Amino acid sequence: MALPVVDTEYLKEIDKARRDLRALIAYKNCAPIMLRLAWHDAGTYDKNSKTGGANGSIRNEEEYSHGSNSGLKIAIDFCEGVKAKHPEDYLCGFIPGVVAVEVTGGPTIDFVPGRRDSNICPKEGRLPNAKLGSPHLRDIFYRMGLSDKDIVALSGGHTLGRAHPERSGFEGPWTQEPLKFDNSYFVEMLKGETDGLLKLPTDTALLDDPAFRPYVELYAKDEDAFFRDYAASHKKLSELGFTQR
Ligand code: HEM
Repeated sequence: MALPVVDTEYLKEIDKARRDLRALIAYKNCAPIMLRLAWHDAGTYDKNSKTGGANGSIRNEEEYSHGSNSGLKIAIDFCEGVKAKHPEDYLCGFIPGVVAVEVTGGPTIDFVPGRRDSNICPKEGRLPNAKLGSPHLRDIFYRMGLSDKDIVALSGGHTLGRAHPERSGFEGPWTQEPLKFDNSYFVEMLKGETDGLLKLPTDTALLDDPAFRPYVELYAKDEDAFFRDYAASHKKLSELGFTQR
């Protein structure tokens, strides 16, 4: 993918925006929903039609009103404040996601700044359905051009946050410390059911599938391997379908 040309002034501005986002996320304690916002923006990508992707289109009501984006307007409103100060880049998705991982103790994710927001929204129905299993996960992630390893590594994003009954119908966090980015999602998966912790059908699918499970086992015992693979997969996710400035 050709990289956009960005000058020093531009990079300085992005740096300031990242600082503002760090402060906002600390103040609002909203890292999990910021990460979910980044993922839901990017996760609509279709590699065949080259539509959807990490392009900020989730800012538009047409897209954030999709059922699977329930609750994300809260995160968009937080981001719009920062965006008003730094209108240059695309701040309603991938940068907040990168900052959310970073400030909760996760790996640093490289990213390419210099993006233009898109007002072209994908049709509803491109994000995964939490009630289904591995074939569905593969349908969705392969459509984006991502791999089995990406599926497992990115599912580790559930180390942050919780489900809210009024948003998704599910309830509870995946880990004991949902504001800390670590490998505990995988550790908890291998422990089995724990009172108060959530496992979606799409989470347990990772344990049951012979190609996914080795990654779950690796990430549970080797946090460095998880951080390395997560950072690489998140970078890929954040580069799906963006338009050059
Ligand atoms: C939350 C499904 C992948 C990050 C949720 C929720 C569901 C869900 C049902 C609860 C929403 C709510 O009630 O507030 C799925 C499914 C996935 C998937 C089916 C397919 C693999 C991912 C990925 C990431 C991610 C790839 C990030 C890399 C999050 C985060 C939350 C969340 C951080 C917590 C949000 C909060 O606390 O407000 N996900 N997810 N998810 N998801 Fe996923």
